[in-house]
Amino acid sequence: MTIRLFKPSVGQEELDNLRGVFERAWLGLGPLVSEFEEEWSRYVGCGMSVGVNSATAALHLALTAFHFPPGKKVLVPAITFASTATAVLYNNLIPVFVDVDPDTAVMSLEGLERKIDGDCVAVIPVHNAGYPVPMDELMGIAARHNLKVIEDCAHCAGGSYKGKKLGTWGHIGCFSFEEKKCMTTGDGGMICSDDAELIEPLKPYRWVGIDKDTWRRAVAAGSEQEKEAMHWHYDISVLGYKYNMNDVMAAIGLAQLKKLDAMNAKRRAIIGRYLDGIRGMDGIMPYTRYTLNGEEAYWFFGIRSARRDELILHLKHRGIATGVHFYPLPLHPLFKSWDNGCPVAKEIWKTFITLPSHVDLTEEEISYVVDAIGAFVTPPVWI
Ligand SMILES: Cc1ncc(COP(=O)(O)O)c(C=O)c1O
Repeated sequence: MTIRLFKPSVGQEELDNLRGVFERAWLGLGPLVSEFEEEWSRYVGCGMSVGVNSATAALHLALTAFHFPPGKKVLVPAITFASTATAVLYNNLIPVFVDVDPDTAVMSLEGLERKIDGDCVAVIPVHNAGYPVPMDELMGIAARHNLKVIEDCAHCAGGSYKGKKLGTWGHIGCFSFEEKKCMTTGDGGMICSDDAELIEPLKPYRWVGIDKDTWRRAVAAGSEQEKEAMHWHYDISVLGYKYNMNDVMAAIGLAQLKKLDAMNAKRRAIIGRYLDGIRGMDGIMPYTRYTLNGEEAYWFFGIRSARRDELILHLKHRGIATGVHFYPLPLHPLFKSWDNGCPVAKEIWKTFITLPSHVDLTEEEISYVVDAIGAFVTPPVWI
């Protein structure tokens, strides 16, 4: 048996939507992007959403929205994907790594308070693996220190914390629809906020700086003939990027959004099966403090083992793909110069193993993985 670590769950509904895109022969930034943005705003319950081509782009532009002076500092967890921190560097800001909570592997709030100084302007909490950073407490800390909050929701599309959707607690929420995530558009991302005035100006930034609104204003001021002839005009008002979502992505996203709650429920059920399976296994702990209250959106199930590399090889030899999420950022060459400690992150990552937990995983496959871990922990005795 071979079992993939991640696998997007796509089918007829996505194909049907794509057929419509082909029939209209409009594949770029178009009406489906607007429709998906509106559906997304309705789904998460926010004022406005802006579709982009990745969460990396979303995080980059979310920080751009605040126009922080270069050289200011942004707090990010030590355990996350590179994009959380490269977004800081793209904006000529300085990343400040915050250590993680030893049990949950998300940003420690005590660690956060310790790292804040007068130059810090923002914090990017990451709901790592889908486990929510306690946003009520974090928002209190942010308010006391006048920090803007950008939630990195790359791992938790559709998840809530205390009944409120993740991505709507902070000033801006950023989502990933990359192919492995809770839902996918192939590649894709979403910026959302209750403050439309804050993120509306990001539209030209995602579209190489093109500002069609100035065209509309120019046209409105002109004669009928000028209006007719000026349809081609646009202004480049800002240094923008080619970060837009397109109608192919949005077509897939609209179909995936309809299935998101069901896919998150399926992932919770898979995680429940794994938790039962590993219970009592010597030296095997869950990756984070998985709760299953019905509001969580987990991206993956993982475990911890002091014999991590041996176990990875044991599973590999049985056809089971695994991963490690994540090697702490301050240990990467790019980020070494901002290494400021974070001893917990540097210790616990050595035990991390991500297991197959995509929604199309079968009961038989889960049992196979659990049995393989069991055989590693308690090897069979031959009499
Ligand atoms: C925490 C986190 N933030 C951001 C990203 C970037 O997402 P994307 O691939 O959509 O750019 C990822 C990707 O895995 C991630 O894990």
